[in-house]
Amino acid sequence: MPEHILIFGATGLSGIEFCFSALQQGHQLTLLVRSPHKLPREIASNVNVTVIEGTFEDVKKLEQAAGAGPQIFISFAGPPGMSKGTHITNAMKLIFPMLVANKYKRAMVLGTCSYPAPQDKVNATYTGYGDDGLFLSRKGMVRWVLQEMCEDSPWVGKAPAISNH
Ligand SMILES: NC(=O)c1ccc[n+]([C@@H]2O[C@H](COP(=O)([O-])OP(=O)(O)OC[C@H]3O[C@@H](n4cnc5c(N)ncnc54)[C@H](OP(=O)(O)O)[C@@H]3O)[C@@H](O)[C@H]2O)c1
Repeated sequence: MPEHILIFGATGLSGIEFCFSALQQGHQLTLLVRSPHKLPREIASNVNVTVIEGTFEDVKKLEQAAGAGPQIFISFAGPPGMSKGTHITNAMKLIFPMLVANKYKRAMVLGTCSYPAPQDKVNATYTGYGDDGLFLSRKGMVRWVLQEMCEDSPWVGKAPAISNH
């Protein structure tokens, strides 16, 4: 079923890969980006794409994006190397109440592992099942996220480690 998806980090490697795949599947996208010039023309000019230029600190732009009609939120935002502070975390703290207020049905925040889960073993998250690994291709991540946009996934509310293993 075509969904309307709000995307953070759409100008990054993973975000661009996701946008191309999601558009091929007929989804509608709203992108909050601070550097619109980084978006490939095929994405920026697609009739199913709305680009909102703004930063993660701009509460009014966050509200505009969250209230533009999407029902699914996906963040591919990641800090550039050597960056300081918690810009992404701060943005999540701002956007999540807006997602709840707008009755979003699913929110997925992609990032390199940094949160513990109750199922974690000493040396890894969700590992010990024999099906974990350290390598994750962006195409693989995009495939997983696209198939996860449902409300009955067993991963809702969990913190899975995703790998290509
Ligand atoms: N094996 C793994 O663990 C693995 C593999 C792949 C990806 N990942 C994770 O997946 C996420 C995406 O990876 P990626 O390689 O696609 O990252 P990337 O190419 O560095 O892209 C990062 C995105 O975040 C945006 N961004 C960063 N800081 C921002 C800020 N303060 N305000 C607004 N936008 C901001 C960037 O916007 P600009 O373009 O404007 O800078 C860009 O769109 C990251 O969290 C990464 O850690 C993990």
